[in-house]
Amino acid sequence: MNMRVMTSVKAMQQHALGEKRAGRKIGLVPTMGYLHEGHLSLVALARAHAEVVIVSIFVNPIQFLPGEDLASYPRDFERDRELCTRAGVDLIFCPNPEEMYAADHSVFVEETSLSNVLCGASRSGHFRGVTSVVAKLFNITLPDVAVFGQKDAQQCRVIQRMVRDLNIPVEIIVGPIIREPDGLAMSSRNKYLSPANRKRALCLRRALATAERLVQAGERSIMPVKLAVMAVISEVPEALIDYVVFMDNETLEPVSEIQRPVLAALAVRIGGTRLIDNTILG
Ligand code: PAJ
Repeated sequence: MNMRVMTSVKAMQQHALGEKRAGRKIGLVPTMGYLHEGHLSLVALARAHAEVVIVSIFVNPIQFLPGEDLASYPRDFERDRELCTRAGVDLIFCPNPEEMYAADHSVFVEETSLSNVLCGASRSGHFRGVTSVVAKLFNITLPDVAVFGQKDAQQCRVIQRMVRDLNIPVEIIVGPIIREPDGLAMSSRNKYLSPANRKRALCLRRALATAERLVQAGERSIMPVKLAVMAVISEVPEALIDYVVFMDNETLEPVSEIQRPVLAALAVRIGGTRLIDNTILG
């Protein structure tokens, strides 16, 4: 069957209701478009768990802070449509911002604990925009399962908490980080990197690999691992560290020892582009 493209919230909701009444399981992959293999790996996971796969493409204005890249965020709908068709997506939902947000919209969904660290600390208000739009997308597309990427580890935890605390009947599935052959985590924002900065960006993965090696060799204390990670990034003078953090993978509480799985997460600015990456240690 041909892939459908829907822009109307009402039509999307009606269509989703019809699929549900026909007993078909819906899988949603929320995205902001400019799709790459990372997004498509989530589509494959959705396909494995649902009969109807919906990809939403919506550059959500309320998760960008003033001064961030909302206007310049890469967009290429025809390319996205082609990739989705080839990946066997059933439906693209791509509303415009006026369709999603009434001029006087005034209700938000806010997670108030996990959202305040890491990306939430340097991008205050960002996760409120994410949880609000994801809650709306769930209400519009009525998924049984929704798939998110471990690339945005904190986003996954915040959404799992939202679903738990608001009793939203959606199963959250988390897909692994998909990387370029040289190790750089795929991201729509990699497009911003000049060829020289693209090479420098490899320091993120190199730093995390150093952490993995130290822990594999038996290191259990975070401080030497953190210093080694920071040293690897400092070898690239153009790389500015936003954070290097080691947290309990479940609670996102900072840890000083590795006793349970620890999420090692980095955010680094290179030539004005903010890149994130992470790995699980132990
Ligand atoms: P976006 O950055 O487009 O990412 C959409 C989904 O793809 C997210 O779940 C993200 O974690 C996942 N993803 C990105 N790069 C990946 C990679 N290299 N490997 C695996 N998965 C990857 O995240 C958002 O959009 C937005 O915040 C959104 C959830 C759509 C809400 O607006």
